[in-house]
Amino acid sequence: MAEEWQQLNKQVTDLLKTAREQVLTKMQAPLTVNEKTNRKDLVTNVDKSNEQFLIKQIHQIDPTARVLGEEGFGDALQDLKGRVWIVDPIDGTMNFVKQRDNFAIMIGIYQDGVGQLGYIYDVMQDVLYHGGPALGGVYADERRLEAPANIALADGLIGASGPLVVHDVSHMQAIVHASAGMRVYGSAGIELINIMLGKTLGYISYLKPWDIAAGKVLLEALGCQVTTIDGQPLDMLSSNLVLVATEKAQRDILQIEEDDVSL
Ligand code: IPD
Ligand code: CA
Ligand code: CA
Ligand code: CA
Repeated sequence: MAEEWQQLNKQVTDLLKTAREQVLTKMQAPLTVNEKTNRKDLVTNVDKSNEQFLIKQIHQIDPTARVLGEEGFGDALQDLKGRVWIVDPIDGTMNFVKQRDNFAIMIGIYQDGVGQLGYIYDVMQDVLYHGGPALGGVYADERRLEAPANIALADGLIGASGPLVVHDVSHMQAIVHASAGMRVYGSAGIELINIMLGKTLGYISYLKPWDIAAGKVLLEALGCQVTTIDGQPLDMLSSNLVLVATEKAQRDILQIEEDDVSL
């Protein structure tokens, strides 16, 4: 079984390297950008073509698996039975369009609902963060990552989605106030990499399955907590207000909720 996962990991790594090359090539031509639900919710020709490419290749690698993809080229899932791949072809589309930087390609592989492998590819830095239970660790390319320090909320920076803080959803302003400061990167994948590297101690955002599928596998394998903002397990088939944090910071944040601290 371990060998099977190793082989699968090699195939996914090769697939993602090819996908990255294609994205870089397509970025040289003008992008076709469309709005989805509103002017801040964008999709480009590259989001679509990359998802189509990834899903086609995944079906060749793993013919009996089902695939959930953000842009709708995969399967309509009602459950997570068997092997399920969850794909975000470009995470941080707004950054992709406006900055041409700070975006990621992400894949999470789940077996009967349990995350086994996660991949977050920082395209412009050309670093592939990958691993999980099936690999017995987490790696930045070939380098094995240590678990980030288990620091308390007061001692570190927290990543968050801007609108949650502006509208003070779930005591966000009190949470940020209790931390050493807030950072907003505009890509769930990049935010989750920052936690893996110990640059931030957590991240709070309203996320869909493809935004968190890969990161949940990686962060849990590094000893971090990945739950709803209330500390409950995530429903991987719907949206969640997600809290990713070191154990200590999670405990501190859940305490703030209970105490209803205000600024
Ligand atoms: C979005 C980004 C963003 C987060 C949103 C996501 P997308 O993903 O990760 O940082 O705040 O919730 O939807 O749409 O660019 O793949
Ligand atoms: Ca999107
Ligand atoms: Ca995303
Ligand atoms: Ca996306």
